[in-house]
Amino acid sequence: MKVAAQLSVNGISYPVELDPSTSLLNAVRDVVGLTGSKEGCDDSECGACMMLLDGSPVNACSYLALQAEGREVTTVEGLAAGAELSPLQAAFLEQGGVQCGFCTPGMLISATALLDTNPHPTEDEVRIGLSGNLCRCTGYDGIVKAVLSVAES
Ligand code: FES
Ligand code: FES
Repeated sequence: MKVAAQLSVNGISYPVELDPSTSLLNAVRDVVGLTGSKEGCDDSECGACMMLLDGSPVNACSYLALQAEGREVTTVEGLAAGAELSPLQAAFLEQGGVQCGFCTPGMLISATALLDTNPHPTEDEVRIGLSGNLCRCTGYDGIVKAVLSVAES
């Protein structure tokens, strides 16, 4: 049985019909049609699926979509202002923080949440803030440099 709901994603309200067991990740990717967030482990281990829920990062693979009703979901697509990349997105490109790119949407979401709560983190604080996000290309140094470059600017 499907349930009618409204999901607000990146400032747009989407009417959806969902099986109650649908994860937020699957609802956003398969029903809303925003595929920037990735499915890696599907088990809260890798952070590739991370989205902001009312500004706080959640692993969307392990969060029920219906629990997000009435809250604001932000995905990686919502970080840019139209065609203009956010400072973090631009810094990831400039500092070599992107290799295959699979972890990048989740990394950007975690880094955005980190800088929102701590605009001037130390390198250790950046590494701790991104500890829920795995990069299978092991490109952590470029990612950390990118976050620190935004924090310092
Ligand atoms: S896909 Fe959600 S944490 Fe890995
Ligand atoms: S850039 Fe490939 S997984 Fe991180």
